Amino acid sequence: MKVAVLGAAGGIGQALSLLLKTQLPAGSELALYDVAPVVPGVAVDLSHIPTAVKVTGHGKDDLAGALTGTDVVLIPAGVPRKPGMDRSDLFNINAGIVKNLIEGVADNCPDACVGIITNPVNTTVAIAAETLKAKGVYNKNKLFGVTTLDVIRAETFVAELKGVDVASVHVPVIGGHSGTTILPLLSQVEGVEFSDDEVSSLTTRIQNAGTEVVEAKAGGGSATLSMGQAAARFCLSLVAAMQGENVVEYTYVQTDDSDDAAFFAHPVRLGANGVEEILPYGELSAFEEKAKNDMLEGLRGDIKLGVDFVTG
Ligand code: NAI
Repeated sequence: MKVAVLGAAGGIGQALSLLLKTQLPAGSELALYDVAPVVPGVAVDLSHIPTAVKVTGHGKDDLAGALTGTDVVLIPAGVPRKPGMDRSDLFNINAGIVKNLIEGVADNCPDACVGIITNPVNTTVAIAAETLKAKGVYNKNKLFGVTTLDVIRAETFVAELKGVDVASVHVPVIGGHSGTTILPLLSQVEGVEFSDDEVSSLTTRIQNAGTEVVEAKAGGGSATLSMGQAAARFCLSLVAAMQGENVVEYTYVQTDDSDDAAFFAHPVRLGANGVEEILPYGELSAFEEKAKNDMLEGLRGDIKLGVDFVTG
């Protein structure tokens, strides 16, 4: 199994690469690519950790070297938010970065599964899909928006609020990855009850959790360590599924469901070829149904922005 991290020298990239170096199955290869000149050093640094995962570093002119033979590509390349910024403010810079990197994926490892971390995820996943289509290699079962951070945040906050063991808490989070498009399904959390006020305040906290970090870092960027953990969980689930395990993760995928949006985070059964089955997200409470209906137009607009960026 070969995994490539594009943007590996950044805050997320380094945390993610460390977790993958220590947790990918023995015999795997981890290729680190970045335009920042420090990337070979990050690779040398990680290579001194004694695990059976081979690490290689690839500078800005060696995207092909990073991607050739790759099974899973993770993309956290791009600029993060500063206080006062919305994820959509990142579009102007990050859209072009994702398009260029995806062209590299199409040219060098068109069969790889691709996880997009770069924000605004609602839009960058659509950019990736259109770029792959333009190259004639799009497989909707192999393109994912990584929304796992919303899931781990929701699980942490629910466990804190209710004083329960976080290992036993599972919170479905559907929709997109920005503001109100992030929709935690608290009505489906087993073993705990929430008052209406708790549902409302917890939903808002989960939706704004990224901003909590951005403000606390005061201009130093957005979530990197928790995002590294979230992306590692997603990648390790995907790798396990590709090797035959039965795994379900919530992730932003093409749904072909005209009732919601063209891309929507669902529970997804992962398999050898990426998406094995998009599972239904089940029954929503009246609060969740309203929240979903209220945000769909915005999510569809985010997706259209991505499609238009590539198709003109
Ligand atoms: P960072 O600035 O620390 O790292 C970004 C890295 O990307 C840098 O090393 C930079 O050199 C590299 N880069 C820039 N252009 C590149 C290119 N064309 N090819 C390869 N590498 C390139 O930023 P950080 O904090 O790691 O965030 C990265 C992205 O992840 C941001 O867009 C951020 O908004 C997003 N993010 C996504 C989350 C999610 O839940 N999906 C959560 C948190 C952040």
